Amino acid sequence: MPTARVATVPNDLESFWIPFTPNRAFKRAPRLIARAKDMHYYTPQGRAVLDGTAGLWCTNAGHNRAPIVAAIQAQAAELDYSPAFQFAHPKSFELASRVAALAPGDLNRVFFCNSGSEAVDTALKIALAYHYVRGESSHTRLIGRERGYHGVGFGGIAVGGIVANRKFFGTLLAGVDHLPATYNREQQAFTKGEPEWGAHLADELERIVALHDASTIAAVIVEPMAGSTGVLPPPKGYLARLRAICDRHGILLIFDEVITGFGRLGYAFAAERYGVTPDLITFAKGITSGAVPMGGVIARDGIYDAFMRGPEHVVELFHGYTYSAHPLACAAGIATLDLYRDEKLFERAKALEPRWADAAMTLKDLPDVLDIRTVGITAGIDLASRPGAPGLRAYEAMARAFHDEGLMVRNTGDTLALTPPLIVSEAQIGEIFEKLAQVIRAVG
Ligand SMILES: Cc1ncc(COP(=O)(O)O)c(C=O)c1O
Repeated sequence: MPTARVATVPNDLESFWIPFTPNRAFKRAPRLIARAKDMHYYTPQGRAVLDGTAGLWCTNAGHNRAPIVAAIQAQAAELDYSPAFQFAHPKSFELASRVAALAPGDLNRVFFCNSGSEAVDTALKIALAYHYVRGESSHTRLIGRERGYHGVGFGGIAVGGIVANRKFFGTLLAGVDHLPATYNREQQAFTKGEPEWGAHLADELERIVALHDASTIAAVIVEPMAGSTGVLPPPKGYLARLRAICDRHGILLIFDEVITGFGRLGYAFAAERYGVTPDLITFAKGITSGAVPMGGVIARDGIYDAFMRGPEHVVELFHGYTYSAHPLACAAGIATLDLYRDEKLFERAKALEPRWADAAMTLKDLPDVLDIRTVGITAGIDLASRPGAPGLRAYEAMARAFHDEGLMVRNTGDTLALTPPLIVSEAQIGEIFEKLAQVIRAVG
């Protein structure tokens, strides 16, 4: 009976093993979110918390936007699910066309999945299979970058470069190598946008190619702007140099745009901001403004075409997910792209960038601030670590921001990351950094 069930199943905090969260500390002082609207979250007690992080860099259009909510509701009532293999529903084609239209060059073929991690694994598999179907099956190595974050699948952590995400999980994928990270505080501290120093680090790819031989390498994957490690904008000219080296050696270039896609850097994709066209783009997060899980890979025509051979009744790419192009995600995605277009949110992000960067840099002289980096509507603030307790100062800052200042920020190591929804107002930009200044002083 329902009442008996309620009586015997306590709704406590113990059962839920919370991801990427220190569970014991959280359960002692929970940060609970009950609802959201536009730029704000609200706790169960109704206290407003300004969203300085767009959730997890995903709610680019703001929270609970009416057209997205309505699209999801209507879709749920019309078609809950249709098989993702051998059948398809109309909105999957519509959304794919819309995404292709936003992507640069001949990046016209869209493969859907459900998260950034799946998008990364999908892109790596497409890269390997592309070489295979072309009779180049010696091309099997994958090159990532130190400090890179590509989600948590085995492929993603293998090419990723965040030590804590890798060290517990055995030998990962074989045949992976890493470029060096692009960050050097001495050369780059307190830069707005792309640093002048560091393009030469792309040439490390030549060294890796010389070591392994180009014939063994399938693809290079990088985030155009390394987000999760703490906001590292690419040095000027770096991505173009990677592109040139990949071209020289017949290596595919993958941009992981799970964070940078859909307006974060003032463009539909960072590829456009940097004038560099990769062979594959991964996306997720902003495609639905976080409202329904969705991810995907955009491939150049030539990659798709390479698979379109053999008997026509045979599957060309043995890959996909039960929930690829889920109807709710597609409906949310179309409504989200409409909103981005109608409210010109990518252009808005671009126009706000100078104001955002100036506001972030007002924290420069606060105690324990070692560096501030900005690009698009994104900022990373490095704090000095407490002796013997790396990560504690930023963790305390995140918790204090939530409890005392009504601000959501993200902490990674001793770096704070700010990435609000693109609807953030100039006044709210001021509010974010004023609150953050209070917090940084408090954890000094
Ligand atoms: C660049 C990048 N790739 C992949 C992912 C993984 O996405 P998800 O958490 O949806 O699997 C993230 C998540 O932050 C990301 O920033």
